[in-house]
Amino acid sequence: MRNYYIAGNWKMHKTRAEAAELAKALVAELKDGKHKYLVAPSFTSLETVGAIVKGTNIRLGAQNMAAEEQGAHTGEVSVLQLKDLEVRTVILGHSERRHIYKEDDALINKKVQLALRHGLEVILCIGELLEEREAGRAETVCETQTVKGLEGVSAADLSRVVLAYEPVWAIGTGKTATPEDADAIHAYVRKVIERLYGAGAASQIVIQYGGSVKPDNAAQLMAKENIDGALVGGAALKAGTFASIAKFG
Ligand code: 13P
Repeated sequence: MRNYYIAGNWKMHKTRAEAAELAKALVAELKDGKHKYLVAPSFTSLETVGAIVKGTNIRLGAQNMAAEEQGAHTGEVSVLQLKDLEVRTVILGHSERRHIYKEDDALINKKVQLALRHGLEVILCIGELLEEREAGRAETVCETQTVKGLEGVSAADLSRVVLAYEPVWAIGTGKTATPEDADAIHAYVRKVIERLYGAGAASQIVIQYGGSVKPDNAAQLMAKENIDGALVGGAALKAGTFASIAKFG
């Protein structure tokens, strides 16, 4: 069955020294942890954190990646550069990339395909805006982002894809989706995967929830049938809070 997968997205926080301190504390706190774990520091801290988590039960992830393999793309970071740093996972389509930096589904799909072609694991983020939820469009938005994000992805490559449902209105706001509301979207998206890839793939794909996950709500969220982990932002910035989410229940 599916393993729980708890990931920390450190966003644009921490210098190398601060990132190293957090990574060292997490290695100690999670060394007996039962689940799958990942930290995604800023590009500037990948090498530092990578050296600390190497050989432990914590994977190294990046928060984004360019859609091209290499070339004249000032300010971008390539898949080859990530692999050179022993990054194993890349978060793509995060709502902050979609809404602040205007990444669309076609661009995100190009990144997904490139990352998979290079053997990386992809955490593909999906999620609706508040006005979309209020208009009753949450399912449709998540379906479109899933279908378009996975265009051209083979069934074999799907085994290296994790989905993260992050309702935009719950990110960094302290407002968490109720476990029931989150589970309903996860179940819906799992059906979308079933339609695209069949029942076996749908039952295996890991779907994380993200959006104000905290030590005091993690266990209730994880108890839901279709919630297989968490993508944690703010609460991932302190070892104690991330570890207590990571070791929920
Ligand atoms: P918060 O946990 O701060 O709401 O952030 C969630 C998120 O965006 C993780 O990618």
